[in-house]
Amino acid sequence: MDARNTLAEAQPFADEFATAVIDGLGARAKHIPCHFLYDARGSELFEKITQLEEYYPTRTEIALLEKYGPRISQLVGSDCAVIEFGSGSSRKTHILIESLQDIAAYVPIDISDKALSEAAEALRKKFSDLTVIPVHADFNEAIELPDAVSGALKLGFFPGSTIGNFSHADATRFLADAGELLGQDSAFLVGVDLKKNTDTLLAAYNDAEGVTAEFNLNLLERINRQLDGDLNLEKFKHEAVYNETEGRIEIYIVSLEDQRLSVLGRPFTLTRGERIHTENSHKYSIEEFGAMARRAGWQSDEVWIDDRALFSLHFLSRN
Ligand code: AVI
Repeated sequence: MDARNTLAEAQPFADEFATAVIDGLGARAKHIPCHFLYDARGSELFEKITQLEEYYPTRTEIALLEKYGPRISQLVGSDCAVIEFGSGSSRKTHILIESLQDIAAYVPIDISDKALSEAAEALRKKFSDLTVIPVHADFNEAIELPDAVSGALKLGFFPGSTIGNFSHADATRFLADAGELLGQDSAFLVGVDLKKNTDTLLAAYNDAEGVTAEFNLNLLERINRQLDGDLNLEKFKHEAVYNETEGRIEIYIVSLEDQRLSVLGRPFTLTRGERIHTENSHKYSIEEFGAMARRAGWQSDEVWIDDRALFSLHFLSRN
């Protein structure tokens, strides 16, 4: 009997993380969904990743927003409501808001109450006239926008190539749902990491300092801390590979030896070299992403890329 069956017979877990870990470690191809990488320590480490020399996406996207901010402002005009899918704590949000004229309101949507209130406070401090209306919700589920922005044209904002962490099907669904939410005549600014030479990609996810490795392996510490696990971090390593066929970086935690472990009192075994899949980061060509956006009901109006063609900013619209 595999752990899935055992789990089905056991009393249901209240906790989503527990269920995902027990299910994922019990599966034939072991896996744990990537959003569990972001506990407090994981978020701190991700912030550190964004500052690494090898991790080009963040600084390249910031430079694109600085360069094309005036063009974005021209395209959306005045009085639009900016709806960000994520907490809006980043420098990117500040650059976008600085570029736009007379924003009707800024609406960050995030599942973390803490991230939302911190981001809202920082924005209110910096832009004293800005109306900030945080929405506490999971943007992968049905959301309602506040009444205060019902009459305004909407500009959606989804930076960071977070869309790359979704499967193609989920990314298409997310774009379509966002279109429904933002409504007629809205626009959507989406940051998308581009396909490029494999060495550059691998370096970005296998940095020399080992920050990405620490970020990935922190998931094991989280299991130990929150799910009474007995995992020995010395017996695992981080691995990032580029899957050419799927067009994505795949991140794994690899077992360095045959081992037994226990999580919430449940036994699991791993063989030497066996991998736990923890993240996918899809890369797109400009055409591939444009086609996906069109399938989701968007029109691709403009695309901006840097000189080295590392990263892209897509300005989509719908009518
Ligand atoms: C958040 N996301 C867009 C990052 C990426 O590049 O896929 C997560 C990440 N994982 C390892 N490094 C960065």
